[in-house]
Amino acid sequence: MVPRLIIHGGAGLIESPDFTERQYEKALRKAIKETYSVLLQKGSRQAVLYGIRLLEDDPLFNAGYGSRLQKDGRVRMSAAIMDSVSQKFSGVINICNVRHPIDVADTLSKRRHAVLAGRGATEYARRRKMEYCSPLAPHRLKEHAEKVKGESGTVGIVAVDHKGCICAGTSTGGVGYETPGRVSDSATVAGTYASRVCGVSCTGQGESIVNQAVAAKIVARVEDGVSLASAVQRLVGIARQKKLRIGLISLDCYGNILVGNGYNTKVLYAKHEGTKIDTFLTQPHDHEHVPRH
Ligand code: GLY
Repeated sequence: MVPRLIIHGGAGLIESPDFTERQYEKALRKAIKETYSVLLQKGSRQAVLYGIRLLEDDPLFNAGYGSRLQKDGRVRMSAAIMDSVSQKFSGVINICNVRHPIDVADTLSKRRHAVLAGRGATEYARRRKMEYCSPLAPHRLKEHAEKVKGESGTVGIVAVDHKGCICAGTSTGGVGYETPGRVSDSATVAGTYASRVCGVSCTGQGESIVNQAVAAKIVARVEDGVSLASAVQRLVGIARQKKLRIGLISLDCYGNILVGNGYNTKVLYAKHEGTKIDTFLTQPHDHEHVPRH
């Protein structure tokens, strides 16, 4: 198996007038390059953790530092990870002031209770001395002052290593200016899921992703013998018909990589299939994925 990797930087691409599309693209290319070497050396789970940590540290993306603020002015972040070998979903929901929510999600995979939320999640991270960070970035404070409601955001990675282990991970700061405590899809099986056949990470409007049980449904269909391409296309068809802003990246055990974008949804993604990095921007309403520089 040639190790492969796909990474997305969210569906709400140009989220802030302070940044350009080119900056997002450059950041994704850098992240995928470094993450691919981790994939070769340490396997898919470590690669997903490494890559998501990079994006959580980058204020361009709506995850970790640079997450959007909820209505009450607090940042609450969510992240999840799952791989095809352990088959354990673990995640954190609405955790505060940690540098890497994805790392907290990772440690929970070894615990009896694999998903923690709110204060319990934050206290768990403190007890484990996980790195503290105030995620408040200046452009997000400005957005909050202007009551900007985001559409989406989120970062995610799906990777397969040479042993065939598939891992999916997702991290988000939510949609922005939401009711405090609103739960995003990212740390649910609708937003992140992996089994021996394929892995999926979603971006877009969390409520729609949960209603369609996107990631778990695609994986279940592929387990039942449907091709990944058909499973993704079916989901995308429904999303467009119902006008749902859903985006997803996916990868199967044969190394096929599929990206889906629902109604009026742009997804910027980069993929590495062993030889080179390709960056694309999906276009709303159609199936065209425009290659970037
Ligand atoms: N997909 C991210 C969110 O809705 O919070």
